[in-house]
Amino acid sequence: MALFRLLLLGLLPFLCLSASLKDFPQLYGPRSWSRLAGGNNTADSGRHIRAKLQSQKINNVTGGAVSTYGTSKISDRSPREPLARYGAGIVYMLELDIGTPGQKVSAILDTGSYTLLLDPDCKQAADPEACQTYGFYDTAQSSTAKSLNGWFSGQFGTGFMQGVWYSDTAYVGLDYLPLPNLRIGVSKWSQYIWAGVLGVSYGKAWNTAYQTLLDLIVFQNYIEVPIFSVGVGYQGGGSPSDIIFGGVDRKKYRGYLEPLEIYPYPEQQLKLFDQVGYRVNLTSLAVTPPGENETMLTGSNFERNVLIDSGSTYTYLDANLVAIIAKTLNANTDEHGVYRVPCENRDLDGSVNFGFNFFNMVIRVNYADFIVDFDSYCALGVQPIDHSDSTWVLGTSFIRAAYLVFDQLNNAVWIAQYLPCGDDGVEDLTKDAGRQLWLEVTGLC
Ligand SMILES: *[C@@H]1O[C@H](CO)[C@@H](O)[C@H](O)[C@H]1NC(C)=O
Ligand SMILES: *[C@@H]1O[C@H](CO)[C@@H](O)[C@H](O)[C@H]1NC(C)=O
Ligand SMILES: *[C@@H]1O[C@H](CO)[C@@H](O)[C@H](O)[C@H]1NC(C)=O
Ligand SMILES: *[C@@H]1O[C@H](CO)[C@@H](O)[C@H](O)[C@H]1NC(C)=O
Repeated sequence: MALFRLLLLGLLPFLCLSASLKDFPQLYGPRSWSRLAGGNNTADSGRHIRAKLQSQKINNVTGGAVSTYGTSKISDRSPREPLARYGAGIVYMLELDIGTPGQKVSAILDTGSYTLLLDPDCKQAADPEACQTYGFYDTAQSSTAKSLNGWFSGQFGTGFMQGVWYSDTAYVGLDYLPLPNLRIGVSKWSQYIWAGVLGVSYGKAWNTAYQTLLDLIVFQNYIEVPIFSVGVGYQGGGSPSDIIFGGVDRKKYRGYLEPLEIYPYPEQQLKLFDQVGYRVNLTSLAVTPPGENETMLTGSNFERNVLIDSGSTYTYLDANLVAIIAKTLNANTDEHGVYRVPCENRDLDGSVNFGFNFFNMVIRVNYADFIVDFDSYCALGVQPIDHSDSTWVLGTSFIRAAYLVFDQLNNAVWIAQYLPCGDDGVEDLTKDAGRQLWLEVTGLC
């Protein structure tokens, strides 16, 4: 609540943020990263780690346990996912090999949290059957597993998990590069959660006392800077879906990547929320109904903080805006209060448009990607936040339309419209990533 009071007081008049370097001085001075010094992150040649993402859908309208509430330091997510009440969601998963010998486990790529948590209790999961298929990490079967003798517990959206900390070797990416001593939370009791979670938000520089997966990838010198890029691809497949640690794929967008400064600044987030996440300002919202002109839903001075959260199926905005979007797309609430849309509307040529840095970058999410397809029915990609002071969230219904570079070196998220045109555009990011991202790694599509 305190946050939004502050933001409103600080409302700025329109600023022209066109590509002038002085508007983003903080993009050129590494701040938090120096706190991670200690590893050999001084490599002079660039590298990257590429991994495939798998889109996964669960849709069990009878499943889904009622949530338990608690405060937590393992997730930066505040709203509960309404559809979770009957167990439905679309996320993107990454496969890891854990332990010695390696055990294959898939976990949800989650930009809204920062730790690797595995082994939810499938019997209590929203979708017990799907849960079984993502692999199980058995510490007893790994010669490199070490118990760290500590407990964790935390709330994850609708889910809850508690368990014990272990450390083990994990192997990531297409080349299965080893990461010794990765901290892993092994669940002993959980509710609703139906797969492991791989958090890729800020780690040791801000949120943790230990090195997270991204921290270790840098510490091991596999990549030079704590930056990764995500293109989850269009709904229903047909386009590549991957994550590149330490690099960017120039064949997934066209033109310049727009830098969105992390805001509130990490220091402020730590004070306000006790943790740091990928929060940025959204500066406009509009809809383009099929065959019509764009209708703006926000005023010219609009600025609202949002969390970019790949662990969330939906985008969450204020109820009144959601109602307008719902009306435009012919969506109606069901008995659970969730907006559903006729699936054939996915074929209509309309979009929901999200603006950043005023109109410097507008991401147009086509109905085909914005309407979440659960096969037997479709849901609107945006649902209302629980309380008027809850954080707005841009979930996978938004992320499908964007190419995103999460940059912990410069504290920014760089963004462009997702537009795949090949598979050979990967470029490594180096200590000079600020300039590279600004001027050099323009999209080739
Ligand atoms: C984000 O929006 C708030 C409220 O309008 C504003 O005070 C702040 O300067 C903005 N931050 C950035 C990085 O644009
Ligand atoms: C860093 O590099 C030095 C010299 O090459 C080596 O001795 C040390 O073990 C390395 N440290 C890590 C954490 O890899
Ligand atoms: C759906 O959820 C219910 C309740 O948790 C469970 O009993 C059932 O096995 C689930 N069905 C599938 C297909 O997972
Ligand atoms: C869209 O806007 C243009 C220019 O304002 C106008 O000429 C046109 O009729 C509008 N189209 C529709 C479908 O409303």
